[in-house]
Amino acid sequence: MCGIIGAISKADVLPILLDGLKRLEYRGYDSSGLAIIQEKGSLSRLRAPGKLIELERTIDASEGIHGRTGIAHTRWATHGPPTENNAHPHVSGERIALVCNGIVENHEELRNWLVDEGMDFHSETDTEVIVNLIRLHMDRGSDFMSAVRESIGALKGAYALGIVNADEPGRIIGARRGSPLIVGVGKDETYLASDISALIAHTRDFIVLENGDIVDIDQNRVTITDLDGRPQDRDMRTSTLSPRSTELGNHRHYMEKEIHEQGQAASDTLEGRITARRVLEACFGTEAKRIFDKTRAIQILACGTSYHAGLVARYWLEDLGIPCQVEIASEFLSRKHAVPRDCLVVALSQSGETIDTLSSVAYAKECGYAHSLAICNAPDSSLVRDSELVLMTHAGPEIGVASTKAFVTQLVALRLFAIVMGRRAGLDMAEESKLVRELRELPARIESALELESAIQAIAEQFANKQHALFLGRGIHYPIALEGALKLKEISYVHAEAYPAGELKHGPLALVDSEMPVVSVAPNDMQLGKLKGNIEEVRARGGKLIVFADSDTRLSSRENLQVINVASVESSIAPIIFTIPLQLLAYHVALIKGTDIDKPRNLAKSVTVE
Ligand code: G6P
Repeated sequence: MCGIIGAISKADVLPILLDGLKRLEYRGYDSSGLAIIQEKGSLSRLRAPGKLIELERTIDASEGIHGRTGIAHTRWATHGPPTENNAHPHVSGERIALVCNGIVENHEELRNWLVDEGMDFHSETDTEVIVNLIRLHMDRGSDFMSAVRESIGALKGAYALGIVNADEPGRIIGARRGSPLIVGVGKDETYLASDISALIAHTRDFIVLENGDIVDIDQNRVTITDLDGRPQDRDMRTSTLSPRSTELGNHRHYMEKEIHEQGQAASDTLEGRITARRVLEACFGTEAKRIFDKTRAIQILACGTSYHAGLVARYWLEDLGIPCQVEIASEFLSRKHAVPRDCLVVALSQSGETIDTLSSVAYAKECGYAHSLAICNAPDSSLVRDSELVLMTHAGPEIGVASTKAFVTQLVALRLFAIVMGRRAGLDMAEESKLVRELRELPARIESALELESAIQAIAEQFANKQHALFLGRGIHYPIALEGALKLKEISYVHAEAYPAGELKHGPLALVDSEMPVVSVAPNDMQLGKLKGNIEEVRARGGKLIVFADSDTRLSSRENLQVINVASVESSIAPIIFTIPLQLLAYHVALIKGTDIDKPRNLAKSVTVE
């Protein structure tokens, strides 16, 4: 979602802002803009709908925009379409410019009041009320900082802000409530950003702002206070991200790169967490043993792809005797709960900043859920900071909006979790040792599955003119079918639906004809016999089946049935392996369709508003 970057330097900040915006592109956006305090003390702003290239064209066509203090923004439209007028920064009185990530819930009320007070509005956004509020307070005698405090005191909702005042070059004020915001500390340069990846070409040292923080920065100084002006002490952190870790290398897209990094990512996520025979429980934190010992049930909360990882984990946990519920975070938020005793909440999130997931964990606490564990890929995220127990996935930065390696590493982490919980339900040493051995083989098995790419590329051609597709799976592979369908719809815009194969006759079979591709995953498990029956039901109606089948299933291609053999793997890791061909299929269909694979329309990597 929206990305913020701000910089104060002794040199021109334009290149810093543009580089930061490029690095924030992955979050998802549909317009962009920047405002710089020019040398002569005037504020210049340029904005453009569409991709960053449009903003660059606007800059090239302008008289030039340079200065030592500036803020910039990628906007993911919520209030008002992605037009130039709605793009940030928003400006009031030609002096104050502001960028925002978030949603001001009481914007209508504030706007009406501001209009009555004589303020003009030029956009349909909720953000413009904030900049006008600040100006109103300044017009009435408040200094810059006091005006910011008075204004944000009136806001309801979640936001991260960056604000400049043309009369005070060399100063940026930022504020955070809900949406992420960090301060980067460089040599004679200070920055504000949504995340450290935006600044990685300039610094690795940063401070994560907490909810309620207001930050005042200049070239060499960072002052953090709360709404009442009380100083707040925040630690300096050093990012381990290298500028190269977000480079594309020889790949056409980040998604392609990230699909191919999955063997390594799985290996990195296992590293240090398993011995030859055991999962090391300490990797969940020092309190893990105490909390796990008294846990009797699990409630998983997540959104999007992470939710699908949670669905897979339910099969793993319940198979080992641990009761488990999985719910989409926004739905969990929408109802009351009969809280089971000693239930551990497990929040899954690649970014650790998904607002619904964060809110659902807070709500679970309110409802009386006992403890929380975060499985997350972003070490400095809000989720990690707010959870009692944490298990980091080591996928490395994921840039493609459609999640791939983050999903696979979530499954790896959940496998570790299922094993340590399984011990408490009777999993013995011999069984654990077998499961750990199977996990150790996972990276190599992933590499083998990636070798299916050329076969899948050929199959993808069949989707060139398709608008719809069905995905079928049974048991633990139903969530994998869901994930395959999600990948396809996200990046190729083919309408793809996944069904548990047993539900075929209860509706989706009506959609099957010779135009409908039906994709199925067929591992060699207890469900295979029934799945074969479902495959025949589709064939009998002329449906075109594409089946990714364990080579031991002895399924073979015939009329209306194409079988792609996936090397046989143990059932404990099969869902992870069957994910790979479905990711590759989505990628190659999108490639043929010519969509914007890494930044699909209307989607955002990190959904920081409800
Ligand atoms: C967005 C992304 C998805 C992601 C979901 C949950 O919709 O586009 O790829 O699965 O958010 O994100 P999280 O960071 O919480 O895993």
